[in-house]
Amino acid sequence: MKETVKTGRRSLRRMWPTIDLAERLESTTTMDRPIQIVARAVRGIVRPGRVRDLLHGVPTGNPVHPPLTTVSLGCWLATAVLDLSSVDRRAARTVLATGIAGSVPAIAAGLTDWSSLHREQQRVGFVHAIANLGATSLYTASLLLRLSGREQAGRALAFAGLGAAGLGGYLGGHLSYRLAAGANHAESVTHLMPLGWHNLCDLKDLPDGRPVARRLGYIDLFVLRTGEDVTVLADGCSHLAGPLHQGRLTSEDGQVCVVCPWHGSTFRLSDGAVVHGPATAPQPAFQTRVRRDGLIQVRPAQPA
Ligand code: FES
Repeated sequence: MKETVKTGRRSLRRMWPTIDLAERLESTTTMDRPIQIVARAVRGIVRPGRVRDLLHGVPTGNPVHPPLTTVSLGCWLATAVLDLSSVDRRAARTVLATGIAGSVPAIAAGLTDWSSLHREQQRVGFVHAIANLGATSLYTASLLLRLSGREQAGRALAFAGLGAAGLGGYLGGHLSYRLAAGANHAESVTHLMPLGWHNLCDLKDLPDGRPVARRLGYIDLFVLRTGEDVTVLADGCSHLAGPLHQGRLTSEDGQVCVVCPWHGSTFRLSDGAVVHGPATAPQPAFQTRVRRDGLIQVRPAQPA
């Protein structure tokens, strides 16, 4: 059976060499050292705080890197169309330059997201970044050549840039859809719990002031007892499913929050809202009640 699966995958790879490339990158260890150095440098430059949250997309509730990249890609595709049709050199230069300008925030956001990913994601993301930086460099050189009057050479470099951007885009898709970087890793939680109240555990079985993990059906929960109050969130962090019950409790603007032990996303305990990234999606929160006999019951929080 195992042999059949392997043979099936091999023939699929022969059909689609791009799948082979992306999967090989996930397990290639040769880039690990430079990846570590660059990721540490990015985290050192973009320190936790407002700018980092903005680059992750915390205020918008979604990563901002993907929509920012569409600006550059759109402009560079338009450059190719204008170059092929030779209708307007000045327009081609204008959209090309707009694409280069748009790549600056896209690169900043992408590097910030990438610096807080799993190792396999970072390997694919590293090559994705190199391809996109290559594309930006080729387009910059293309613009300089055009401005110096070497139109044909400028066009040739722009087409090479489009190829590099295409490779970068493909790897970005693999990163997002196959490896789920940037996706909400807690989205399925509320679908796994039927409506209504569910018995969780006895209040007396919970330590006071220290988060613990409890399981309810298929769902892992973060549970914090504070005296007679109980706070319950999904335990798997919405960023990359880190165990929140192992996180540190903190206070932000007078609100109790939990900091994910993996990459530092910070969630408000009262409703699971994201206070700091890299997570951009809120943590599913649950309503709780304690019965007279001390049994804790939970249900998914109702939308306000
Ligand atoms: S898993 Fe990355 S911050 Fe929680």
